[in-house]
Amino acid sequence: MRVTASAPAKVILFGEHFVVYGEPALVMAVERRVYVSTEPRTDCKIYIRADGIGASGYYSGEALRTFEAEMGGREAQDRLQPIKVVIEHALRLSKKKVGLNVIVKSAIPVAAGLGSSAAVAVATAAAVGRVLGLELSREEVYQIAYEAEKVIHGTPSGIDPAISTYGGTLIYRRGEGVKPLTLEVEVPLVIGNTGLSRSTGDLVARVRRLKDRYPSIVEPILSVGGKIVAEAIMALKAGDLEALGNLMDINHGLLSAVGVSSGPLERLVYAARRAGALGAKLTGAGGGGCMVALTATGDLDKVARAIEEAGGETLTATRAKEGVRIEEQR
Ligand code: PMV
Repeated sequence: MRVTASAPAKVILFGEHFVVYGEPALVMAVERRVYVSTEPRTDCKIYIRADGIGASGYYSGEALRTFEAEMGGREAQDRLQPIKVVIEHALRLSKKKVGLNVIVKSAIPVAAGLGSSAAVAVATAAAVGRVLGLELSREEVYQIAYEAEKVIHGTPSGIDPAISTYGGTLIYRRGEGVKPLTLEVEVPLVIGNTGLSRSTGDLVARVRRLKDRYPSIVEPILSVGGKIVAEAIMALKAGDLEALGNLMDINHGLLSAVGVSSGPLERLVYAARRAGALGAKLTGAGGGGCMVALTATGDLDKVARAIEEAGGETLTATRAKEGVRIEEQR
């Protein structure tokens, strides 16, 4: 049997970083997907190939501890580790002793704040689970992917695997899970990628250090971040895009305050604002990666051009209604 599953990328509209500390966040799935195909092997090896991160290789032996790189040299093992963790988890649940080929194809830029690693983990859990005959619920797919996220950075909030699993637009709060939000209005968004990759774990650690050192200053910032999300939900429900834009600008200011913006991100944010965006902010972990701008309908192209002139690569952010899904099974 060969199974292909897919899962979408995401854009965090409000609340990244603050969500790690229990504040709510607002996140939307976007129509850029990761596809993971898998089939059993006749031996007990696990072969993983992920062209997007330039890594492939074979795991074998006792507890799959032996690794033989095919592409990506020594670093391949580290890069493939989160995918391996997902596969091991599914194998444990199935109690089967089989080998697998797992091929990852991604249309999501890597390490850019669009949740590519979570989408890979979610699609892998769904595809491998199906091939192994596990009837995984969405919640179980999410839990397996969340465990893998913890391998990448120590204290993930779980927002990335949640949106990749469930799709749509979600209010997410750590420990409380997801609340779907039905959008009555179009929310025209342009994503701008600085092209600079960065580590989510390092940026989350940077905020934590700042919070530990200056708790009386940073904790109120986190809680204001939570208040912005509450206001943003009201603005979205009322279809008030202007208010939503203002709130994005304020949210960006708070993210700058905790040290996760950067020169290249600021350039794209200000280029978008100058071109008439209703609001603009970095999205995801920051440092490099992506920003997102909200525009009035009709201004999308103008804002996109301004972001490109400032050196960014633009992506359209069409909302993905569906989260993880099985694409093919034969
Ligand atoms: O995966 P990224 O880079 O989009 O960042 C995820 C969002 C953070 O809030 C920065 C981290 C987390 O675990 O929620």
